[in-house]
Amino acid sequence: MSFNTFGHSFRVTTFGESHGAAIGCVIDGCPPRIALTEADIQPYLDRRRPGQSRFTTQRQEADAVKILSGVFVDETSGQQVTTGTPIALVIENVDQRSKDYSDIKDKYRPGHADYTYDVKYGLRDYRGGGRQSARETATRVAAGAIARKIVPGMQLRGALVQIGAERIDRRRWDWAEVERNPFFCPDAQAAARFGDYLEAVRKRGSSVGAVIEIVAEGVPPGLGAPIYGKLDADLAAALMSINAVKGVEIGAGFAAAELPGEENGDEMRIGNEGQPMFLSNNAGGILGGISTGQPLVARFAVKPTSSILTPRRTVDRYGNETEISTTGRHDPCVGIRAVPVGEAMMACVVADHYLRHRGQVGQATAWPFPQPPGKA
Ligand SMILES: Cc1cc2nc3c(=O)[nH]c(=O)nc-3n(C[C@H](O)[C@H](O)[C@H](O)COP(=O)(O)O)c2cc1C
Repeated sequence: MSFNTFGHSFRVTTFGESHGAAIGCVIDGCPPRIALTEADIQPYLDRRRPGQSRFTTQRQEADAVKILSGVFVDETSGQQVTTGTPIALVIENVDQRSKDYSDIKDKYRPGHADYTYDVKYGLRDYRGGGRQSARETATRVAAGAIARKIVPGMQLRGALVQIGAERIDRRRWDWAEVERNPFFCPDAQAAARFGDYLEAVRKRGSSVGAVIEIVAEGVPPGLGAPIYGKLDADLAAALMSINAVKGVEIGAGFAAAELPGEENGDEMRIGNEGQPMFLSNNAGGILGGISTGQPLVARFAVKPTSSILTPRRTVDRYGNETEISTTGRHDPCVGIRAVPVGEAMMACVVADHYLRHRGQVGQATAWPFPQPPGKA
């Protein structure tokens, strides 16, 4: 009865709680001889780290990652590389303030997992929520940094495309902008609006949700398997496993229901290098659960942060009706820090399917196929 592991060939198990000594993960199945040091992982953790702007929680965590196992210095290259054995990563928890959480010890926050943890397990770590705290997502980001190294030529990026009711203008999409504002927003004008909008939300003791888009380019065709190993199903499960995620879309997603067939199906032509070229990407790079070679495109929606200052009606664990207002340090919009987490989850899923495909099929299929004799 353990549900802390995901992936088959690239298998990630995470452990630890928000207010324990440390959090971490064990990655089993990573191929050997991949150059890996802490410096390869740390930049991704730094992007998710709290306390970097006034729009995220003020909890201060260095989130410094340590590699405990699975690496060795290769004599020939002098580089530290993976050995093919389990890679254990650990991140110490340094900024825990249990007193911030004393108000919620017995009361259930509406929208949070306090009641469900209590009713399921008969107890819960109220000092930050234990595994329900998004602190755990730092370990996924660390695993994702390794996953990115497995798929050659893959470029995987994420962006925040909507915050509350405010959306970006997709015509102004600029990936470089994502690293220039505190929202991971690809539209500079929208980012400026997001700042004022979120400040007002925070000041009135409220919170908002967001939509995040993750795009992986350079993913080869053929990853994923029909029916129970669909790449889109695994992606949806991985993204849905992120705290606060309430919806996932692949490609055109829910909007596909409104499209006529002649618009939705991505037409095909032969591209410059004799390979198939799709004229659109409503499929989000996946057909029949298998990657097409087009960019993988997934979006996920996160709900508004449940821990808010505004008093809400609730009950306590002893059966009394009461009210709760959550002080302490919380993200007014969890969607901002969810961007690197979403990227990491997609990276892990693609790496897993890349290794599964290599295990089952081996070399890439040469396309186009030769004409059968007599058909030329
Ligand atoms: C990056 C990130 C940060 C989060 N920070 C908070 C927070 O500060 N306060 C809060 O109430 N929820 C926060 N959440 C959401 C909760 O962890 C989540 O709502 C809770 O575990 C219940 O699970 P569910 O929303 O998936 O049902 C965060 C989520 C993410 C992805």
